[in-house]
Amino acid sequence: MEVWRGKAGAAMNLAFVAAVLATIVKASVGQGLVPGVMIFGDSVVDAGNNNNLATLVRANFPPYGRDFTQHTPTGRFCNGKLATDFTVENLGFTSYPPAYLSNEATGNNILNGANFASAASGYLNSTANLYQAIPLTQQVQYYKEYQSKVEKIAGRERARSLFSGSIYILSSGNSDYIQNYYINPLLGGTYTPDQFSDLLVQSFTSFIQSVYNLGARRVGVTSLPPMGCLPAAITLFGGGNNGCVTRLNNDAVAFNKKINMAAESLKRSHGDLRLVIFDIYKPLLDLINNPGNSGFFESRRACCGTGTIETSLLCNTRAPGTCSNATGYVFWDSFHPSEAANRVLSDALLLQGIDLIS
Ligand SMILES: *[C@@H]1O[C@H](CO)[C@@H](O)[C@H](O)[C@H]1NC(C)=O
Ligand SMILES: *[C@@H]1O[C@H](CO)[C@@H](O)[C@H](O)[C@H]1NC(C)=O
Repeated sequence: MEVWRGKAGAAMNLAFVAAVLATIVKASVGQGLVPGVMIFGDSVVDAGNNNNLATLVRANFPPYGRDFTQHTPTGRFCNGKLATDFTVENLGFTSYPPAYLSNEATGNNILNGANFASAASGYLNSTANLYQAIPLTQQVQYYKEYQSKVEKIAGRERARSLFSGSIYILSSGNSDYIQNYYINPLLGGTYTPDQFSDLLVQSFTSFIQSVYNLGARRVGVTSLPPMGCLPAAITLFGGGNNGCVTRLNNDAVAFNKKINMAAESLKRSHGDLRLVIFDIYKPLLDLINNPGNSGFFESRRACCGTGTIETSLLCNTRAPGTCSNATGYVFWDSFHPSEAANRVLSDALLLQGIDLIS
């Protein structure tokens, strides 16, 4: 299990959770703690669905993936594993849910879940459409199609218990703000941040209702991160200052409050729904503000796609000055955490998500 390098209280909690998990995993003879994991959302969790789309938002080229299992790019927006990859491992699985649009998503490979996420997708259709990514509503359509495939392979009974027992994970909202609202005068000029967050939360509620109607009963949704601290956000919206952009962080905090309230209301109206909003705001902000406490030394500059001062938003083979070892960097590229940071974030997800597996 992971060694928690944070506060003593967290260390005890995590050790306890780890011990419980280890016991259950052993008891369930090589099976995961849950029958599967279904993943929806954006680039934080996309495992390669964008590779074959006509979108520019892709990560299927070096140096992406250089620290992943085969040291090759997969489409993950990271040098290595995503937080959800660690979560899937923590749940006892030996392979990751395949990207639904990839060649791997066939036969028995899809019987422990699948990944429907698409980088640059958000809560709004219009966000994904701007970048030719897969809108969340379309991801749910693919999930329906997936369900009928699974029923054919595994039979109705087993399929049903997979759909109801699996953990559903959604990461969304980042792209709606950073790649749409803040740069799109059509939206920025029409909606106040408060009105815009209401739109997103409505879409969150319909997503939960859709997957609930399709059998989901254990759902974990990530909150917004401190968006104003993403290296790209500091460059784009920081007005030349080098610190986190307060306005963006305030928008994230306000959105997170609303989505938590919407989740409470959904739980009241769906008595058998376990729904957790994973707080990634605080753990990521802690890493950014006090990188040294968790063994990091750089939380402002990304490993890839930035020079001494942020000069480019792009991480690719020609990116100048890519760091040789991303272990000490909180950010891999100017939008996405490094594998090392994802490991820390997944520890937080594990602690917060215990309700989904108990
Ligand atoms: C998104 O698009 C789908 C399919 O076109 C549509 O059914 C849905 O209502 C749209 N959602 C929003 C929030 O516009
Ligand atoms: C990166 O640095 C860490 C910590 O110093 C070390 O454990 C690891 O082996 C290094 N990785 C590479 C690929 O050099």
